[in-house]
Amino acid sequence: QFQVYSSGRKSDLPVSFEEMEQLAHEQLDESSFYYIAGGAGKERSMKENRLAFDQWKIVPRMLRNVSERDISVKLFGKTYQSPILFAPIGVQTIAHPNGELESAEAAAALKIPYIASTAASFSLEKIADVLDDSPKWFQLYWSNDMDITASMVKRAEKCGYEAIVVTLDTPMMGWREKDIENAYLPFLLGQGIANYLEDPVFCSRLNVSPKEDIESAILLWTRLFGNPALTWDDLAFLRKQTNLPILLKGILHKEDAKLAYESGMDGIIVSNHGGRQVDGTISSLDALEMISKELKGKIPILFDSGIRRGADVYKALALGANSVLIGRPFMYGLALGGKDGVMQVMKNIIADFDLTMALSGQKSISELNASLLIKESNL
Ligand code: FNR
Repeated sequence: QFQVYSSGRKSDLPVSFEEMEQLAHEQLDESSFYYIAGGAGKERSMKENRLAFDQWKIVPRMLRNVSERDISVKLFGKTYQSPILFAPIGVQTIAHPNGELESAEAAAALKIPYIASTAASFSLEKIADVLDDSPKWFQLYWSNDMDITASMVKRAEKCGYEAIVVTLDTPMMGWREKDIENAYLPFLLGQGIANYLEDPVFCSRLNVSPKEDIESAILLWTRLFGNPALTWDDLAFLRKQTNLPILLKGILHKEDAKLAYESGMDGIIVSNHGGRQVDGTISSLDALEMISKELKGKIPILFDSGIRRGADVYKALALGANSVLIGRPFMYGLALGGKDGVMQVMKNIIADFDLTMALSGQKSISELNASLLIKESNL
């Protein structure tokens, strides 16, 4: 399924991430492009994410019979064919009129786990319909209205989502200079409210139906969206709502990784949100290195922020990630080619990763470890 050289067909879109980004820049309207491509502040964290990958070098091994390779992974009792997932990305109609419906179709066609965002342009029920029996997780933005939070989790459980990903790093949006200049937020909000409009508890908080007064619904959403008052003690509330595995997304400090484990969480996602929240943070990859040493395999560690090619996946797994999430690359695929564009991007990353494994002398993900890499400063 992920063989790329044998297709004999010229690809419609560029293969390189940088060319895809360039093309998306040319085709999308300015504000939407910058919302996807941009980061917080001076975009230092966003750049650090990539620099960190470049500092690590792969040291390949030879003569190790890599004719058969197993790139499948097991997470929370289920086996997935590769260590690659879709990152939760909201408001996908800014890239394509069918937004999540298109990317979810691609995920279902390839059976790649899809994480649907609370801020999606379509309801989690509609997205679940498209995903059908393909693996699906739900990403929760924890509202300060606890009943809405509980309701979202119940809805996700009811339509077959298999894990809850709680994003902790975004109780409010980061300082994104282009979005401020472009006054993009009001437009964006309209693209990401679908899950609230379908939520019975949210709707019960409105005086007028959203069909009659969408502005008031949006205003209420901005008030209820985040919950900066949360503490570690609140995780018990979430645990009571569901028996699904819960993962905490946005962990960068090793003490927080430890707290996640001690709070009974099932996994973490090491992430700085693609450098979109705090300008000047540690790169996600440097955080991963420290956190995996701290957790020593106690709970699965997933990783995102900066994965662009197969070699990046290889490096993240060698530094302790069990799986990785792809963000912006699939959004460019969506913008440029809808479902087919998303499929191309994801297939290429998986094929490139498989080749990197083979050419580095590794046939199984369980063999990957930090001794297969050298950091530039140690060369
Ligand atoms: C995001 N991300 C995100 N995360 C999340 O938990 N919920 C969300 O709704 C969104 N929405 C979103 C929109 C856009 C346009 C982007 C680019 C990102 C963050 C996302 O899940 C992931 O952490 C990063 O995108 C990973 O970094 P890369 O792969 O984009 O570098």
